[in-house]
Amino acid sequence: MKIAVTVKEVREQVNEWKRQGLSVGLVPTMGYLHEGHKSLITRAVSENDRVVASVFVNPMQFGPSEDLESYPRDLDRDAALCEEAGADLIFHPEPSEMYHSGFSSYVDMDTLTGGLCGKSRPIHFRGVCTVVAKLFNIVMPDRAYFGQKDAQQLAVIRHMADDLSYGIEIKGCPIIREEDGLAKSSRNTYLDKTERQAALVLNRALSEGRKLIDAGERDAARIKETVSSIISAEPLARIDYVEVVNWDLLEPVENIDSPVLVAVAVFIGKTRLIDNFIALED
Ligand code: PAJ
Repeated sequence: MKIAVTVKEVREQVNEWKRQGLSVGLVPTMGYLHEGHKSLITRAVSENDRVVASVFVNPMQFGPSEDLESYPRDLDRDAALCEEAGADLIFHPEPSEMYHSGFSSYVDMDTLTGGLCGKSRPIHFRGVCTVVAKLFNIVMPDRAYFGQKDAQQLAVIRHMADDLSYGIEIKGCPIIREEDGLAKSSRNTYLDKTERQAALVLNRALSEGRKLIDAGERDAARIKETVSSIISAEPLARIDYVEVVNWDLLEPVENIDSPVLVAVAVFIGKTRLIDNFIALED
């Protein structure tokens, strides 16, 4: 497995693979990889001849008071995990390789990005779309893999790939959890022992919401109430949002009669965690 730090190196390698008629899968990440990321790479390896994993903490998607500086980084460990999962190339550029001085072109989306995480992170999806568009242009993959853990991101990228005619298949992958149900996240390392315990409330609350829908409840307000009240009962938790939206345009729904995303963002101490489930999906 190689590690490329320049766009040129990646292009040369991918062009060589394409000349050989090989298919290419891309797994974009910000590193500090865990089993969730690994599941994406493993899936990509099973569906493509060659797999590129990008490891880039993208400054453009962090707000001014967010955790860009403290975001955990460990390239040696990431490289070992990628190799073990069967990736062929890691793309690990410096910020200056992705954003040269004078950079001024962005990918913005008018729909899907205003609600959920977009409300409290107003520039986040512009940063995500722009960097993912660049990665698509650099790697030109046949397929790209994203986790349902970041469900809004998955929907936004699907929409962008379609709007901009990338011709890349966007593959959504299930949420990988710790044994006790906490969704795996690079940001879980911020949690101390008591916070780690308190963080279980996200999955606990969502599981109750899912049970209600499975039992036939169709009133979105009831689901929101149940999920919110369970989270509010945890003293270390502060709700950013609890939402029930349709699973195509991410618009709030009153009645649950087609696939919906039930999503939460919750601060546990200073750490913002997200989790979700999709209901009535066929
Ligand atoms: P990052 O948070 O590193 O996540 C990279 C990919 O791993 C995303 O598609 C995310 O949904 C997926 N992932 C993270 N935790 C997961 C889990 N527990 N189960 C399944 N998949 C999981 O998301 C980003 O980076 C960035 O926004 C990026 C797309 C790379 C653009 O900078």
